[in-house]
Amino acid sequence: MAISDEDIQKVREATDLVALFGERVPVRQRGRDFWCCCPFHNEKTPSCKIDPSTQLWHCFGCGEGGDVFGFVMKMDDVSFPDAVRMLAERAHVDIVDTRGGNRTSSSRKARLRDVCKETCSFYHEQLMRGKSPEADSARSYLSGRDLGGEVPRKWMLGFAPGRGALVRHLTSKGFKPDEMIEANVAVQRDGGRVNDRFYNRVMFPIFDPQGDCIAFGGRVIGEGEPKYLNSQETPLFHKSNVLYGLDKAKTAMTSSGTAIIVEGYTDVIALHEGGIENAVATLGTALTIQHVRLISRHASKRIVYLFDGDAAGQRAADRALGFIDESMTPEAGKTRIELCAVTLPDDLDPADFVAKRGADELRELVANAKPLIAYGIDRRLAAHDLSSAEGRTRAMADALSVLAPIKGSVLAKDYAVQLAGKLMMREEDVLSALANLKPPRVYDRDAAPDRNEGNQAPVQVQPTISPAERSRRRFERRFVSLLAQNPSIALQHADSLAQTQWHDQTNGQLAQSLLATLSANPAATPAQIVANASSEVPRAAGALTSATVKEGEDIAEIVRFLVEELEIGDLEATLVSMNAQLKGDALPPDERELVFAAVVDLQKTVNAKRATHKPVL
Ligand code: UTP
Ligand code: MN
Repeated sequence: MAISDEDIQKVREATDLVALFGERVPVRQRGRDFWCCCPFHNEKTPSCKIDPSTQLWHCFGCGEGGDVFGFVMKMDDVSFPDAVRMLAERAHVDIVDTRGGNRTSSSRKARLRDVCKETCSFYHEQLMRGKSPEADSARSYLSGRDLGGEVPRKWMLGFAPGRGALVRHLTSKGFKPDEMIEANVAVQRDGGRVNDRFYNRVMFPIFDPQGDCIAFGGRVIGEGEPKYLNSQETPLFHKSNVLYGLDKAKTAMTSSGTAIIVEGYTDVIALHEGGIENAVATLGTALTIQHVRLISRHASKRIVYLFDGDAAGQRAADRALGFIDESMTPEAGKTRIELCAVTLPDDLDPADFVAKRGADELRELVANAKPLIAYGIDRRLAAHDLSSAEGRTRAMADALSVLAPIKGSVLAKDYAVQLAGKLMMREEDVLSALANLKPPRVYDRDAAPDRNEGNQAPVQVQPTISPAERSRRRFERRFVSLLAQNPSIALQHADSLAQTQWHDQTNGQLAQSLLATLSANPAATPAQIVANASSEVPRAAGALTSATVKEGEDIAEIVRFLVEELEIGDLEATLVSMNAQLKGDALPPDERELVFAAVVDLQKTVNAKRATHKPVL
């Protein structure tokens, strides 16, 4: 592996599981544990437990569970090393990552972050206190656009004077030219002097979801080209997976379940200032599947795309129809995030709309946004003259093409029937046109996350298993799971772990893995135990996180009961097989007598044990 165990451990220790969950779903404390509605299946009441002491989570609804890395792997559909990298970046932990040749090391990235941070405060300072006439015009430009008052402070807006002022400042702070250039706040033309990239512009710093500045957008003051100059791609900044305002919007997204996507920096600010705090913007690019994924980490129910009323907004709307795919149909099973859209009227953008009509009217528009498919169909219909039969026929073909990616679904048929009504056509005709549609264009499916994978319950209970057998397997599972979560108690019961006759093969493998981890490192943490087991046994994480202890219950006491229970069970199984031997004629008489005596003895032992075996569960 390209990342060392020590680094993995560092990242694990720097990450708080409860906080990590809290960024993605609403979390509530109950007793010493935290609970949330499971992000991996649909539910209305929380059945997913997050244990702050072991840093493990488990969903009692779907059986998923694991540690911090497992959570990110499932949530973001990424590999283990990628989960480690993401969490390392999130926690700003330096790791040695030997994957690939030319990846930027995390210490270099940290340095670039520092360049951006210093640049951000320098520009902010220039805006707030700069004495030049240019700084004056930047201030009056912003306040003239309703971006004065507390706005510059809250959004860390700035002013870039240019003329080398930033390069001089960063140099005085110890930054090197190559660092400024790589962070794209400075440029060097034809081997000449290193100079500021932004000159006489109002600056909008762009933050990552954790609130660290990673890039900038600079607007000309007044008219000019380009209107916005943005940071180019850097090791910190990939605009197809960054959203402006996400650091400030994520809490509101999580609590409302909804995200609003707009096109511009000023739109985001206007919406937030108007009290609509779940808004973010793409950075002059179309919405990508990475954006959708990024948003669905926070908003779980609905994304509402607000398109500007102008021509550019309409082009963006057409591109967004490319997001329609089978995942939006009920046949896809679990409902994924709902993608909705609305076009703003009268050539307005969201900032203008809030200024002219107020935030409440915008809220209403958002609430009434249509699902993307319905939105697409209506858009296509609006492009045709529906008063003539010919126009309606063309409108039908155009509108049906929106349904091409989902043509086989019941949902597509529903829409086709509705379409027939709107166009006053025969349902059969529209349905047969739907059936005759060409196969859909292929979009970048590779990026589409598949959240449905691995959602089965970890224990597949066969219907043929007797109730006694089922409860035996449950005791086994509880035993290994409790011990995995309490390594110090596990050390005291290593013998039982090694000697138990496991009825469920998985439980046996889990016990073996637990023993191996503890013998290599008696101080191993629960998360390490779960991680090791996960790499050896399928669905180990779900199994090992499944045991719980209620408030006031004594874990050591429960474990003692389980040890006894399993031991008695094993003895009874031996009794059964010995009795079976006695039944046949296979044994010579003298041996038979010995076995008989042993059975009597063993039965006595079992009876004695049963008599003192008090259930604590
Ligand atoms: P808009 O032209 O709608 O700008 O572009 P805006 O956000 O409404 O800005 P104001 O209100 O006129 O100041 C929307 C977004 O497209 C990107 C920017 O991210 C902008 O916020 N854009 C636009 C550029 O990157 N470069 C440009 O030259 C113009
Ligand atoms: Mn705009």
